[in-house]
Amino acid sequence: MSAPDRIAEFVAAVREAFADGTIVRLKLGGYHGPEADLKSVEGRKVSIKAGERLSFVFRHKTRDITKNLSLDEVAGFLSDGLARHYRSARLETTGFDLQFERQGDKLRLKRSEVAGRAVAEASHDRTKNRALTDTSSVWLHALGITGKDGQVRNDAQDKFRQINKMVEIFAPLIQQLKATNPRILDMGAGKGYLDFALYDYLANRAGQAAEIIGVELRPALVQSGNALAKDSGFEGLRFEAGSILDYDAAGADAVIALHACDTATDDAIYQGIKSGAALIAVAPCCHKQIRRQIEAGKSDDRLDFLLRHGTFMEKQAEMVTDGLRALLLEASGYRTKVFEFVSDAHTPKNNLIVAQKGNAGSRQAALDRVAAVKTMFGIETHYLEGLLGL
Ligand SMILES: C[S@@+](CC[C@H](N)C(=O)[O-])C[C@H]1O[C@@H](n2cnc3c(N)ncnc32)[C@H](O)[C@@H]1O
Repeated sequence: MSAPDRIAEFVAAVREAFADGTIVRLKLGGYHGPEADLKSVEGRKVSIKAGERLSFVFRHKTRDITKNLSLDEVAGFLSDGLARHYRSARLETTGFDLQFERQGDKLRLKRSEVAGRAVAEASHDRTKNRALTDTSSVWLHALGITGKDGQVRNDAQDKFRQINKMVEIFAPLIQQLKATNPRILDMGAGKGYLDFALYDYLANRAGQAAEIIGVELRPALVQSGNALAKDSGFEGLRFEAGSILDYDAAGADAVIALHACDTATDDAIYQGIKSGAALIAVAPCCHKQIRRQIEAGKSDDRLDFLLRHGTFMEKQAEMVTDGLRALLLEASGYRTKVFEFVSDAHTPKNNLIVAQKGNAGSRQAALDRVAAVKTMFGIETHYLEGLLGL
């Protein structure tokens, strides 16, 4: 068989595996082309609005670039690339691996059967079921989740699990939004774990365009977040310095806040309501504002059997604060759910309030319930009420 035929055979195998849905992964290595810092290329099949594509991540020394290519574009890229720029390529399918090697003028193809791969991976390797399957990303390493070897560090396993869980929860909510390029505000973004994970998943696995903006008080975090977004090639992700309440949230499709401190969560909810965001999702942190008022002791005497114990007071303050937030969201036209988003073995701050615009119940009924709860717990005002002018 002549040299070009080896490449044609490899391309034909890629075409076939793509068409029959058995392709698992395509990797290219041994790069020696004009781009100085390109290390490797990895592609997976994705389904995006434009149709089915192979989504390639071009891994450079300090950044990743993603390109979604049609099958014809992939064929062109491989035919040229394997002849000139890449010394090796590996096609992984559910039934076999096909390894291409080029050494000088010699081209080799080696096929090895791997019967039952998909079933074995799904049942034996939990990480393969996670949203973030590729642990070699620049951002995972920069945020201390992975080590130099590209593996999740032992002391970061919990964090990695949490990030994956958040992506599993948030990605479908984002994908339900009607906007084609939704604007997502993450209020009190910190180092931006959620933003990097969500952006990576949406762009590189789901083929969903998104603009994610992390709003954060601390300028140093904003600066490092922006540098890392650039290094990662995440063009639609950026961080802006400022306070949640002062930020111009107009045009937001989703407003998210994870563990923003105490009433900063209310600031985020308020910004979501004010901008008419279709989705508001917050994981509250501490609940001091309401706790102080309950502790002032004007609550219904019948609650004394609970509130005299510090630990129950803590839990009550949390539930009352968030229960009122849910009611105030309902009064503002959002249907609302509260659920645990990670196990409390990982963090006690594990409640997520998810509010989606539309089909809420009666505003007056929600406000009546707010009034009743306040009387029961001796609460003068919930900070969010003040923001909403209620
Ligand atoms: C506990 S951290 C959580 C960070 C991130 N959301 C996470 O879950 O990893 C809270 C972050 O919110 C920021 N923050 C608190 N209040 C804020 C406000 N009013 N405006 C902007 N950022 C705020 C803090 O600087 C901090 O970085």
